[in-house]
Amino acid sequence: MLELGGGVLGKRGFFICLEGLDGCGKTTQAKVLVRKLKRMGYNANYTAEPSLGKIGRFIRKYCLHGDKRVSSIVEALLFAADRYEHVENEVIPAIKSGKIVVSDRYMYSSLAYQGATGLNLDWIRRLNEHALPPDLAIFIDVDPKTVIQRLKPKKSVMENLETQRKVREVYMKFVDNGELIRVNGNKSKREVADEVLSIVLDSLEECR
Ligand SMILES: Nc1ncnc2c1ncn2[C@@H]1O[C@H](COP(=O)(O)OP(=O)(O)OP(=O)(O)O)[C@@H](O)[C@H]1O
Ligand SMILES: [Mg+2]
Repeated sequence: MLELGGGVLGKRGFFICLEGLDGCGKTTQAKVLVRKLKRMGYNANYTAEPSLGKIGRFIRKYCLHGDKRVSSIVEALLFAADRYEHVENEVIPAIKSGKIVVSDRYMYSSLAYQGATGLNLDWIRRLNEHALPPDLAIFIDVDPKTVIQRLKPKKSVMENLETQRKVREVYMKFVDNGELIRVNGNKSKREVADEVLSIVLDSLEECR
């Protein structure tokens, strides 16, 4: 097994999150990435938000697949609560045991989706300030019109062009300030996967 360097809090693993609009290819790419890393000898785990726990399941039913969108304050609180359980129960134990954790969405989804409604970004950040910061955050950037075509038939209350455009604008703020690394997700799945892997390997190399 390839060894990763020890870091703050005695953690030995590496925490990656993939972010982007609905249908941009996060799940596809997160799973391919984990498979490739495992083939290379790394101990890697796929995980996702909303989580599979009680709060995550509630979010899917109440916030994502309800009749209409709930208040963005309620969304932000529920997603943050789910995140804390996800981090405590899944991410931190895996990181402590030396794994690479690839999370399909993380805190930038809260900033982008709730921030896109006009909710204060600093407040959303404060709500999430106790969640483990990712070592690497990648934004798979796909044109909002393309994701809407990919997403037919409509699945969640977030999946409309106006929302996706606003969400992308917020994500791009974090690309511009360097928190997110942008990958052009409009290319083929294989090309996107190659670019994601190359960014991850560079980042792993840096932390060794
Ligand atoms: N680069 C690509 N080019 C064309 N189609 C793609 C590409 N990447 C993913 N897809 C397709 O787009 C659809 C959505 O992909 P995927 O489920 O991975 O996105 P997602 O970001 O996880 O979506 P969601 O936010 O809804 O979970 C799938 O049908 C997938 O096969
Ligand atoms: Mg997905």
